[in-house]
Amino acid sequence: MFKALVMEQDEAGLAQASLKEISEDQLPDGNVTVAVEYSTVNYKDGLCLSPKGGGLVRHYPHVPGIDYAGTVEASDDDRYKPGDKVVLTGWRVGEVTWGGYAQKARIDADKLVPLPDGLTTRQAMAVGTAGFTAMLAVMALEDHGMKPGQGPVLVTGAAGGVGSVATAILANLGYDVAAVTGRPDQAAYLKGLGASSIVPREELNETTKRPLEAETWAGCVDAVGGDMLARVLGQMKYGASVAAVGLAGGAALPATVIPFLLRGVNLLGIDSVMQPYDNRLRAWQRIARDLPMDKLEAMINPATLEDLPALGADILKGQVKGRVVVDVNG
Ligand SMILES: NC(=O)c1ccc[n+]([C@@H]2O[C@H](COP(=O)([O-])OP(=O)(O)OC[C@H]3O[C@@H](n4cnc5c(N)ncnc54)[C@H](OP(=O)(O)O)[C@@H]3O)[C@@H](O)[C@H]2O)c1
Repeated sequence: MFKALVMEQDEAGLAQASLKEISEDQLPDGNVTVAVEYSTVNYKDGLCLSPKGGGLVRHYPHVPGIDYAGTVEASDDDRYKPGDKVVLTGWRVGEVTWGGYAQKARIDADKLVPLPDGLTTRQAMAVGTAGFTAMLAVMALEDHGMKPGQGPVLVTGAAGGVGSVATAILANLGYDVAAVTGRPDQAAYLKGLGASSIVPREELNETTKRPLEAETWAGCVDAVGGDMLARVLGQMKYGASVAAVGLAGGAALPATVIPFLLRGVNLLGIDSVMQPYDNRLRAWQRIARDLPMDKLEAMINPATLEDLPALGADILKGQVKGRVVVDVNG
């Protein structure tokens, strides 16, 4: 038997989390069993921990946790043997199937990534889906021609998980990072991660009638979407790209096509969930190389399984700073 955070529905159909002892035969199918060491809290985990499951959870009882890292305990696949350290993100684990808020998990080997050299399982979960996605966004921007020295790169939702990791990676690569935040009290934190300037959220969270404004940003990692993304498109430099990662500020995009037609601006979609294996490996290797571990450490809020229901509610309100690392054995 081992500990897991289990969501169960009440008579009104609302799900609530509680810590339970469960057994291995309750785990989903898969050819690798993992002794989970750490998990984390992403925005999507907040949705899965909410009473209606954010429209993502299909069946109850459910064990959320879209990410985990740990040690292989048993494997029927040649690629993994007991003792190997592994990372899991995405594939709708923790949404459709049971996830990482437990001391054990089971999964198909195809979905795992070996822990990259130079990272611990705790650091891998400080990165988690949020940081992995931030790296995918930076890679996509680079693949579309972004280089240091072209001008400031905007990061929206900067004090959140995706934003914090994007800020630290970009600054370390030599970019001049402009960090957008609605939390002015986090300015020192963001500067500590390497941001060179802070942009108050109010400056960008409303659209304007003008489809084009001054050419300002050489690139953008956008975790917010909505009005802010629409506004930023009109401020991009000629030929620059925006990596659309999130919707913390809304899913609508009240924009015109003018920035695409007159300035050759690119809007790049970033998906972490179904990302092919080779690109996953590439992103994790880049994380190990390009994300300074002292900056990652500064983002970490430690937590245990007991803390998760409250943290899930906090992240949906935009109140979590940086990255939560959940010690499932703590
Ligand atoms: N595409 C993918 O595969 C993928 C993967 C991971 C995450 N995501 C998405 O990326 C987004 C960020 O995820 P996360 O885990 O980093 O969440 P998070 O830690 O909560 O960060 C989101 C940040 O956005 C800002 N924000 C929140 N509400 C806002 C609003 N109404 N208007 C403007 N800014 C707002 C806040 O930053 P400040 O306080 O600094 O303003 C907040 O910290 C989410 O929408 C998530 O679903 C997508």
